Amino acid sequence: MSGLEKWFINSPLRVRCQELGPTRFFLNRSKIKENPVCLEVGCGRGAGMRIILKEWNAAQVIGFDLDREQIELADRYIQPQDRPKTKLLVGNAAAMAFVDNKFDAVFDYGILHHIPAWKAALAEIYRALKPGGQFFFEEILKPILNKKLISWLLPHPEEGKFNTPEFTQRLHDTGFIDIQTDIWVGGYLLGIAQKPI
Ligand SMILES: C[S@@+](CC[C@H](N)C(=O)[O-])C[C@H]1O[C@@H](n2cnc3c(N)ncnc32)[C@H](O)[C@@H]1O
Repeated sequence: MSGLEKWFINSPLRVRCQELGPTRFFLNRSKIKENPVCLEVGCGRGAGMRIILKEWNAAQVIGFDLDREQIELADRYIQPQDRPKTKLLVGNAAAMAFVDNKFDAVFDYGILHHIPAWKAALAEIYRALKPGGQFFFEEILKPILNKKLISWLLPHPEEGKFNTPEFTQRLHDTGFIDIQTDIWVGGYLLGIAQKPI
């Protein structure tokens, strides 16, 4: 992540964006049971984990990120009363350290477009979900990432860039069903997909 992106991602503005866009979209379509066990991939400083705990009343939220500094921030950001329900790890979304069929829900708040091996990460998310579990995703699409100013200010790996048809086709090929997507503010892909029962 560039310094500018890190500044935005760790700001209160990012939390507000997460709440207003993706989280509302996810909640309106969530079929997850009460007190789910959840995973946030690329949890950054842990803002998504706090949202998941509150909005889904999660029994447990595990969050991991490739960047140890972000995990250290998350360790400070998680509220003392939430600590028993949370676990933070340094890890790679393309090679997760979880058993198969563990989570009721997996959340991706803006991370797969950072990962050259995003297709492997999707396969890992699928593997880690319980049958019937839901995958909630917010992604930035290739046409936005390729805009001159954006690609200069916020560089991203070429191999991690995709458009909506390519991403939904890959979800389908990975095994996901009931794929629902929408576009938010012109360039964010919001969506939900389910692992079959
Ligand atoms: C745009 S930030 C989003 C952070 C957080 N989810 C949020 O919405 O505020 C992308 C995050 O993905 C993490 N990341 C990049 N590649 C990763 C990988 N292979 N596995 C896990 N996390 C990764 C970065 O370190 C960064 O924290």
